[in-house]
Amino acid sequence: MIKYRGIIQRYKEFLPITDKTPIISLCEGNTPLIFSPYLSGLLGENFKVYLKFEGANPTGSFKDRGMTVAISKAKEENAQAVICASTGNTSASAASYAAKAGIKCVVLLPKGAIALGKLSQALIHNATVLAIDGNFDDCLELVRTISAQFPIQLVNSVNPYRIEGQKTAAFEICDFLETAPDYQVIPVGNAGNITAYWKGYKEYLGKNKISRLPKMLGFQAAGAAPIVKGKPIKKPETIATAIRIGNPASWKQAEAARDESGGLIDMVSDKQIIEAYKLLAAKDGIFVEPASAASVAGLLKLAKKNYFKQAAKIVCILTGHGLKDPDRVIKTVKPPKVIKANLKAVLKEIGY
Ligand code: F0G
Repeated sequence: MIKYRGIIQRYKEFLPITDKTPIISLCEGNTPLIFSPYLSGLLGENFKVYLKFEGANPTGSFKDRGMTVAISKAKEENAQAVICASTGNTSASAASYAAKAGIKCVVLLPKGAIALGKLSQALIHNATVLAIDGNFDDCLELVRTISAQFPIQLVNSVNPYRIEGQKTAAFEICDFLETAPDYQVIPVGNAGNITAYWKGYKEYLGKNKISRLPKMLGFQAAGAAPIVKGKPIKKPETIATAIRIGNPASWKQAEAARDESGGLIDMVSDKQIIEAYKLLAAKDGIFVEPASAASVAGLLKLAKKNYFKQAAKIVCILTGHGLKDPDRVIKTVKPPKVIKANLKAVLKEIGY
């Protein structure tokens, strides 16, 4: 039996890793690709919809795939410190991997706009956490300037090692399905992840591991949809705080993934995101954070428009775990009913 030891060990030949690279891993990757009978049924007889549940990564999001490579390389290069801007998940992952590597970690977060779970993660791993009176785009600009001037490595997805690591999710999908999907649906924020998947699929095609490429379907939140609108959004707004980004760093690469694959980048409203969020929990038993539900909201939007015509295998990427943002559940569903501590009262409530 091959023991699983994380994405670097699994896909080393595709990664910029040498014998000198100290591998900092938390056994990330190898996440489940879950068949959804419910969504497949909604689309029709000849459709197969799969959910790539990246919330199953060690810190609860896809960021770990990129962070294991970025932090291993930072360690190899004797970095004393790393820095990132984040809507939450990047900071949670950077803080965790930096702790394991013994490297100082600094994170800049937009004040008041980070889900509680993510903030807790950065804090417990002893990162230096700074809440900036501005949005994610302001934070990113600051960390880019700092990392250019001081010996502190940037671990946002503008760091190419992050993209290298994240592309392994595309490999896993192809290895599991023994083909590329026809379509991949993915939330888009800073646009690193869509860039990484597209790179992964192209590399697998180049190595003849697959014989065709999927169409890439990206979804932004309607209040934070700069790529869809064709211009930066000064004050992005959405309940999906992870993708509340007005000027994505990998904008051009996301457009290239869209155009080269013959796909699209569209947007979904907060209402559509919440509907998909609740649906995934109720029908598929999967609890994701709101940004992740943007992919399924996008799938449903396209299905309604009859976009998918022929039989197809579709993979929706679920980027982060629902436990990241427990407040959203409380704001979305009814709290438990308080009743008396007696059998009669309980039985009445549950219908016996
Ligand atoms: N989904 C989740 C849960 C995310 O945390 C992010 C990005 C995305 C989707 C979008 O991915 O930026 O590569 O297009 N989160 C970043 C962060 C920005 O700081 O955690 P992207």
